[in-house]
Amino acid sequence: MQHPTYQRQWPEGFIWGSATAAAQIEGAGREGGKEDSIWDHFARIPGAIANGENLDQAVDHYHRMPQDVRLMKELGLDSYRFSTSWARVRPGDRAVNREGLDFYSRLVDELLEAGILPWLTLYHWDLPQALEEKGGWANRDTAYRFAEYANDVYSALGDRVQHWTTFNEPFCSSLLGYGSGVHAPGRQEPAAAIAAVHHQHLAHGLAVNALRERGAQHLGITLNLSNSIPRNSQDPVDLDAARRFDSLQNRIFLDPILRGAYPEDSLRDLGPFGLPDVILPGDLELISAPLEFLGVNHYHDDLISGHADDAGSDGHSGGAERASASPWIGSEDIAFPSRGLPRTAMGWEVNPDGLRKLLVRLGEEYPSLPPLYITENGAAYEDTVSPDGAVHDVERTRFILDHVASVGEAIDQGADVRGYFVWSLLDNFEWSWGYGKRFGIVRVDYGTLERTVKDSGKAYAGLIAAAQRST
Ligand code: NOJ
Repeated sequence: MQHPTYQRQWPEGFIWGSATAAAQIEGAGREGGKEDSIWDHFARIPGAIANGENLDQAVDHYHRMPQDVRLMKELGLDSYRFSTSWARVRPGDRAVNREGLDFYSRLVDELLEAGILPWLTLYHWDLPQALEEKGGWANRDTAYRFAEYANDVYSALGDRVQHWTTFNEPFCSSLLGYGSGVHAPGRQEPAAAIAAVHHQHLAHGLAVNALRERGAQHLGITLNLSNSIPRNSQDPVDLDAARRFDSLQNRIFLDPILRGAYPEDSLRDLGPFGLPDVILPGDLELISAPLEFLGVNHYHDDLISGHADDAGSDGHSGGAERASASPWIGSEDIAFPSRGLPRTAMGWEVNPDGLRKLLVRLGEEYPSLPPLYITENGAAYEDTVSPDGAVHDVERTRFILDHVASVGEAIDQGADVRGYFVWSLLDNFEWSWGYGKRFGIVRVDYGTLERTVKDSGKAYAGLIAAAQRST
């Protein structure tokens, strides 16, 4: 049976892609002149990563890149979203490493030759460890170093890459890295986390202005956004918790970029952690420079309760799991009760209609919203390999098709969505979860590093082919 979304008409030029990130796939941790990023360093701290795993080899994309591009071509991707590793391009934050840039240059050439649009992200969490040793993102100077690095990458690739994303999910690289400490660099310092939020915004603004001056025409940022739903909309405690969650998860990222100001309530809530003090005159003008697109990463919604021990309808520990991984600075009372929905292997609730709601809401709430691209959406499940070698990942297939359908509905309701990138092309290093959580539409055998297209990959390829026929 074919999913109804195969029959849909998509807007002309709609981009179908898949995404990865350098640290999660490349490996070659000490090759080609690369030095440690904060993730290489973090992975050596006992207990930081599940099963003591590391990124040294990852899925060996550094050596298998041409083969991986062939795979993308077979799947029929219009575009490939990848990131460049700062620690490879400017190891130790010293001079540019030509060999590092050459790798990305070859990747871009391979993509263009295969007819695949390169969609480049400059920061997907792998800060050079040398910069962390000078304070990392809590240090304002790191923002200026980022603009230099962005310029270096542009010098090497700006003649061929048109789509430039500054940051991927700054929420994670600021609040999870410096607040809850579950991500590198593993710091648990609320004031440093808030400073990191602002300095990453500043870095974004500086890079956008620098690349714009050099002629870049498609600039954007990718945020991870979720609907913050009060458990009981009659309960003022739940309503306030949902407001605070929405501020930390969504609005302290959206508002400075799209409105040129932090939300009043965020400034109030985060005052004790130093938010206003890190903002210097002129910062917000830089940060709110116009963009051509906003990337939206979406995996799940959050049902929010202000009653810390609220476990939800089925008593599932959705709350506990989420809260322990979260930096709810000044919001430690927030609970994430379960709605009793199916869950992925990450413990995240599956609710495709949340994506439609989010996309529609963005258009309603942000008048200067640029066109949207879903830069990540996908799911981890416990895959099994059948005796014939195939992976019949029925749940992931359904997840992807249902979410794509939800994007279609958002478009029908007026959302200006111009593309969808499934996370991820390959099974890979899922940060502090290590290799145990598989998001790929292509399986990677971690023993042989062999790639096998899963059923979800085949279904996605079929969807792309059907969509291309319809336009
Ligand atoms: C968001 C991140 O950008 C990506 O690196 C991660 O693997 C996926 N979400 C899944 O958690």
